[in-house]
Amino acid sequence: MSVISRRSLLSGLGVVAASGFLPVTAATSLLRVSRDPNCGCCTAWIEHVRAAGFTTEVHELADLSTLKTRLSIPAALYSCHTAEIEGYVIEGHVPASAIQRLLTERPSAIGLAVPGMPIGSPGMEVSGAQAETYDVILFDRSAYKTYARYKGGEEISSRL
Ligand code: CU
Ligand code: CU
Repeated sequence: MSVISRRSLLSGLGVVAASGFLPVTAATSLLRVSRDPNCGCCTAWIEHVRAAGFTTEVHELADLSTLKTRLSIPAALYSCHTAEIEGYVIEGHVPASAIQRLLTERPSAIGLAVPGMPIGSPGMEVSGAQAETYDVILFDRSAYKTYARYKGGEEISSRL
């Protein structure tokens, strides 16, 4: 009797340990995107990050400003959608390659932002229009710095 109950107890613990570990790993690398349901460029940006290999979870919110405030995004850096991954905030049309670098380097910061919606940034491609040069900003509550500079989807310099 004691052998059986002990064995079932151990196998029960094994299941708990395995199921407790695996979902945590998967959940932390999920890119959770909050967007306005009426914004088309958000859809295009989500396609861009998915094509780069990110797994996304999309939430439609009528009021994104409450979320942006809760995540301590400075108003000067606001864009359309707001995403979260592995404890970082990704605001706006940030290229997937910059997010990958962020997750590799893991700087101490709230996250990355591309303020506004530069023409030619991922999800903001306009056929016939010239791509703008824009900065990807690494930000904290009050300090910002340029993390990378892009023209359209291409990085033209980093570590500025
Ligand atoms: Cu947008
Ligand atoms: Cu958007």
